Amino acid sequence: MKWEKGELLYEGKAKRVFATQEPDYLIAEFKDSLTAFNGAMKAQLNHKGEWNNQISAHLMGVLEGCGIGTHFVELISPREQVVKRLEMIPVEFICRNAVAGSLAKRTGISEGTPLPTPVIEFNYKNDEMNDPLYVEDLIVALGIASREEIARIRTQGLKVNDCLGKFMDERGIQLVDFKLEFGRFHDELLVGDEVTPDTCRFWDKKDQSKLDKDRFRRKLGNVAEAYQQILDRVST
Ligand code: TMP
Ligand code: ASP
Repeated sequence: MKWEKGELLYEGKAKRVFATQEPDYLIAEFKDSLTAFNGAMKAQLNHKGEWNNQISAHLMGVLEGCGIGTHFVELISPREQVVKRLEMIPVEFICRNAVAGSLAKRTGISEGTPLPTPVIEFNYKNDEMNDPLYVEDLIVALGIASREEIARIRTQGLKVNDCLGKFMDERGIQLVDFKLEFGRFHDELLVGDEVTPDTCRFWDKKDQSKLDKDRFRRKLGNVAEAYQQILDRVST
């Protein structure tokens, strides 16, 4: 299929989304911008959009291989991919295997402490409110998603954790935590958005060094090297 890039439908912090000639399909264009803390920290990183486009394509392919439905269709250029047009559920599903980031702040437990079972959290996507943590009952009560959808999101999210965790582990990387977004596509619930070092915590198993956006959030340096390292390892 020759994909035609139509009108710009949406521009977010990391991607621009365009219509195509097919109503059920969109083009996602990955930008070189890096943001953190809801856009309070901003920078440009040359080629980052290309790296994330390719990393997300690879990792969505890995998920498909584990029988998990995703929006990914095909790569069409270094920074563009075709995806299915989902009706997004405005919830960030977070799954954690070890304490890090906001969970370390909330509990006072030191970063890196393993969690005996994966911990699942839901953040309501709302920039003005800074993506607040919501419990499942509130998401259902407010009509953001149904009880059945949340149950499905949990099952699929845990499957992603097993599948991606194993894949990264084989490549010398610990999957500390990650964020997913889901959307409705006809009668399916699919993984949308992206799976990249922007949305996952990846630690090198040999020295626990961070290979993700925490290098930018915490001003650790070598941000480009970390993203390239992830692209290299997921491509092999
Ligand atoms: P947190 O520890 O800051 O709550 O982040 C948990 C995971 O979710 C981490 O892998 C980074 C990812 N994440 C996003 O993808 N988008 C966000 O807006 C936030 C806050 C976290
Ligand atoms: N995704 C948010 C931002 O880009 C927050 C973060 O990842 O730290 O501002």
